Amino acid sequence: MIPIKNTEAIKRMRESCLIAATVLARLKEQVRPGITTYDLDQIGRDLIASFGARSACYGYQLHAQRYPAYTCLSVNEEVVHGIGSLKRILRDGDIISLDVVIEYNGYIGDNAITVPVGAIAPQTAKLLEITESALRIGIQQALPGNRIGDISNAIQTFVESHGFSVVRDMVGHGVGCAMHEEPQIPNFGRRNTGEKIKAGMTLAIEPMVNFGRFEVKTLPDGWTIVTRDGSPSAHFEHTVLTTDSVPEILTILPTPF
Ligand code: MF3
Ligand code: CO
Repeated sequence: MIPIKNTEAIKRMRESCLIAATVLARLKEQVRPGITTYDLDQIGRDLIASFGARSACYGYQLHAQRYPAYTCLSVNEEVVHGIGSLKRILRDGDIISLDVVIEYNGYIGDNAITVPVGAIAPQTAKLLEITESALRIGIQQALPGNRIGDISNAIQTFVESHGFSVVRDMVGHGVGCAMHEEPQIPNFGRRNTGEKIKAGMTLAIEPMVNFGRFEVKTLPDGWTIVTRDGSPSAHFEHTVLTTDSVPEILTILPTPF
């Protein structure tokens, strides 16, 4: 069963997601050639602390080793869960995925973007553009009466029509008091399958798109996921609230008119 959030839970989700979005936006401003991913992670840690929030990544346990960093920073062929390192110096032409997951007042906000470092190749820019569009197209399917598979299928169809591939081994997810709640939201699948969407669900939709083939592997650090073929990969993620009509993106900053 997918949890349905009540008014209080939605209020808290709004707050945690606003913090997650603000931290992500400020972290993005720090991306430049010459900075190490360790330094970016430290900046992320300080930003999260400045809001009185907690990194939901730090110490997160999926297997034997706990996640050792405050944010997930994945460069080029790294798909997700990259660990900031003093050895990884960003260079002109790289891309970096920034994934910020925070907990505030008992609720989690989860969002990610992939950004260029300096000037990137046109085909890499296209990968970023298609992945971000895939996220929007997936979100547009988060409608009451639709099923989870409608989100998955929309993302896969769009991405593959542009010649890129969707990662199979990692999926989007429900999010609330825990980082990973029901349901799983794959970025591939068939229409009209999976659980029915209802108002009040909070979902983290997160296409991970590879320039080349879809296969990935885990590095010996136990966390970093990379493409098997070494091609670059992009990742965009929002936490959204389903409603009686169109979904509301919670991890977005209010824009001045
Ligand atoms: N957005 C990622 C996810 O939903 C964040 C994982 S944090 C980590 O899986 F702790 F696993 F690193
Ligand atoms: Co997520």
